[in-house]
Amino acid sequence: MGFTADRLLLFGATGDLAQRMLLPSLCALHDDKLIAPELRIIGTARSEYDDDSYRAFAREALEKYLPDFRKPAIDSFLPRLSYQTLDANDASHFTDLSDEIGTIDKGMAIFLSTAPSLFEPTIAGLTQAGLTGDKVRIGLEKPLGTDLKSSREINDAVATAFPEDRTFRIDHYLGKETVQNLLALRFANIMFEPLWNAAHIEHIQITIAETVGLESRVAYYDGAGALRDMVQNHMLQLLALVAMEPPANYDATAIRDEKVKVLRALRLVEPGETVTGQYRKGAIDGQPVPGYDEELGKDSDTETFVAIKAHLDNWRWKGVPFYLRTGKRLPERMTEIVIQFRRVPHSIFAGAGALTQPNRLVIGIQPQENLKLTMMAKVPGLDRGGIRLHPVELDIDTPDVFAGPKKRIAYERLLLDLIEGDQTLFVRRDEVEAQWDWIDDIRASWAEHGLKPKGYPAGTWGPSAAIALAERDGVTWHE
Ligand code: BG6
Repeated sequence: MGFTADRLLLFGATGDLAQRMLLPSLCALHDDKLIAPELRIIGTARSEYDDDSYRAFAREALEKYLPDFRKPAIDSFLPRLSYQTLDANDASHFTDLSDEIGTIDKGMAIFLSTAPSLFEPTIAGLTQAGLTGDKVRIGLEKPLGTDLKSSREINDAVATAFPEDRTFRIDHYLGKETVQNLLALRFANIMFEPLWNAAHIEHIQITIAETVGLESRVAYYDGAGALRDMVQNHMLQLLALVAMEPPANYDATAIRDEKVKVLRALRLVEPGETVTGQYRKGAIDGQPVPGYDEELGKDSDTETFVAIKAHLDNWRWKGVPFYLRTGKRLPERMTEIVIQFRRVPHSIFAGAGALTQPNRLVIGIQPQENLKLTMMAKVPGLDRGGIRLHPVELDIDTPDVFAGPKKRIAYERLLLDLIEGDQTLFVRRDEVEAQWDWIDDIRASWAEHGLKPKGYPAGTWGPSAAIALAERDGVTWHE
């Protein structure tokens, strides 16, 4: 694990992520005394602030985004913060930054959330100011490039100053408690693993649905689209955790070795196996909302929805389709994984007139955190007219079972691991490259076949072609 940092340097300290997630997470860690009293947090961005005005800025964000029970901690948290204005293209600013940071005694953790074009000058500035030694590690927030080539360029630039064991690539889905719980479900229970393969599983669905639209991210989102914004990272990480072989240990190398094998086994997607969509005007929760092009103020071919039928070419998953879909302006916010088991090989009840349905495990990631296992049961009765069977649900609601522990946001966990140096929940370079490799092929195929997103009204589950993608295999999306 190495050192625990006593300095945290936040690039992008005035951005949306800092206001909504990073400052509230750090304040929560402070409130729970999980970060050492001597940990100083130095914010930096282009905006002109001094320490006092930045603390006032941070206070405003914390008042807005922290839950009420955390707010009493704000006063004692703010003195940890200081601020240095920085233009990444001006080398002299890094010298000022270094003066502000002072001597790094135990170690420093850097959280870099910046435009892709600023990665190289930032790394160069940090190096030249002596802010990259053995006692410094760096956390990198997306977007880390827009394809394999640009992602390699960023990773190469970072690697000139930080070796892989001090580079922490963030995918905030890995910080979610329910995502980590996938490992517990699979590898701390005996009953699922023997069935977790092509012999017993018919297909898997992964849905990440959002109700929000473009929000205020015009510049970024229109250049990215759903495939690169959500599938390349979050969706593929979920898929890797669901599909990987059992690692030998719960540690960064063992887990990431298994994930990368899955990502490399992703088969090239055929032209008919993807559907893209873009939301038009419609309604969310009964409220009218504009279409994507209206929000954007111009026409665009960017997809806000994508559905993919994916395959893994390996022994465990031969012939098992993975139906993936994600989109903005869908009817509800919902992330879930559906494991659809196969039918029993022979139904002893067929002669008695009863139908059996295959078992299904639904893993709710958000907003509901639960496990639902559908099983067949006999309907009570004397069965004079034949046996009747009916599916029943074993329903485990995680917040009910674990009522004590506080619900934490993903960045609390990730920031703490960055400060303490645990890489288990961060993405290794070979994983990112395998992810981009697959995504680049999909985009190349879209370009080759001139695929344009189909319109879907906001508040619906995407274009009808996405429903057909599953239905033609006899599969219904779980909603
Ligand atoms: C981000 C995407 O990585 O994840 C956003 O850039 C998306 O477009 C967000 O809204 C979703 O995260 P969460 O935690 O709300 O599911």
